[in-house]
Amino acid sequence: MIEFVNVSKEFKDKKVLHDISFTINDNELVAIIGASGCGKTTTLKMINRLIVPTKGKILIDGKNIEEIDKTELRRSIGYVIQQMGLFPHMTVKENIELIQKLEKKDPKEIEENTNRLMEIMDLDGDLYLNKYPSDLSGGQQQRVGVARALANNPKVILMDEPFSALDPITRSNLQDELVELHKKMNTTIVFVTHDMDEAIKIADRIIIMKDGDIVQYDTPEEILKHPKNEFVQEFIGKNKIWDAPEYIKVEDIMITTPIVCSPDLTKNECVKKMVQHHIDTLIVVDEDGRYIGIVNRKGLYSTVLPWTNAKDMVNENAITASPDESILELLQYIEETDVTNIPVVDNNGYLKGLITSSSLISVLSSPYLDEYESGKEDEA
Ligand SMILES: Nc1ncnc2c1ncn2[C@@H]1O[C@H](COP(=O)(O)OP(=O)(O)OP(=O)(O)O)[C@@H](O)[C@H]1O
Ligand SMILES: [Mg+2]
Repeated sequence: MIEFVNVSKEFKDKKVLHDISFTINDNELVAIIGASGCGKTTTLKMINRLIVPTKGKILIDGKNIEEIDKTELRRSIGYVIQQMGLFPHMTVKENIELIQKLEKKDPKEIEENTNRLMEIMDLDGDLYLNKYPSDLSGGQQQRVGVARALANNPKVILMDEPFSALDPITRSNLQDELVELHKKMNTTIVFVTHDMDEAIKIADRIIIMKDGDIVQYDTPEEILKHPKNEFVQEFIGKNKIWDAPEYIKVEDIMITTPIVCSPDLTKNECVKKMVQHHIDTLIVVDEDGRYIGIVNRKGLYSTVLPWTNAKDMVNENAITASPDESILELLQYIEETDVTNIPVVDNNGYLKGLITSSSLISVLSSPYLDEYESGKEDEA
């Protein structure tokens, strides 16, 4: 765990960080984002003591980093930066193995480790290990940079805009690889970026900074759904939530008081209830509110006897959704079938709500409505 406790930084009399406090949990990937000069790099460099706070303290696993030997601290923390990351006069192999050699690790182990890292980073060892950084493309150099940062099995990796000089495709590939890598390893990653899309894509949580302060520190989902103020809203862009529909969950768009009926309601009573409420689906629940099934037109038509009970008319194959599921798959399902109503049921079997095609449509159209509205303003 990394903790910043009331950390301030002044360069001469310029205040760069104002009393910031935050915690990064073990194995989290946290992105720090903000405009140029807001203090991202300063914050990052404090973690490996390249910059010392003017006030406050920084703890790693409860220990004040000032009490940890500087060299030891830096060797236990991987560091990847945008440029000048690799030593130009050393081969790829020498770059990756440098620290391990300084630590006099077993040469055979080092070699195995290097080969493993090259594989992880999708680099052909036979081709590249004995080349110099300048022989490699930008993307390949960044891969080597990441491999080197991983070489010592660090518990913490600091990355300062590592992918920002790359073309969009290479960049996107490396983001994917980083996410995969992070899933497999027990590593805490602090990742500085200018790019909100990058942060949303890779981070567990995002720190948004402005002029040396933390404006919001939350999951991508929370930031997209509940931007704390106008600054954050501007920063993420108005329609961002729709660019990331995987963050919209079923519970965000479900109707929470759907029309329900008890299992022993008869067919005639069901029909009456449906007519009365102008609906074509009834949800059957037991007396505690546990979901039993749905009765729809089809169920009613295939039942001849007017006194048949609702529980005997339910469609057993109807799909349900869980409240915390993303709507992405549901959208696909609705597109592929002619199902328009999906009951929302929690893990314990209780009915929580109902997704209707109209609730989906209203979510789908809202960003476009926004555009339409602003287009009208422009015309006026
Ligand atoms: N060694 C220094 N001496 C004086 N001022 C400094 C020093 N290092 C950083 N600063 C100033 O501190 C502020 C924050 O710098 P920092 O590098 O942390 O910003 P940043 O958010 O990483 O910006 P960028 O996105 O451009 O990399 C800037 O105004 C910068 O000019
Ligand atoms: Mg910076």
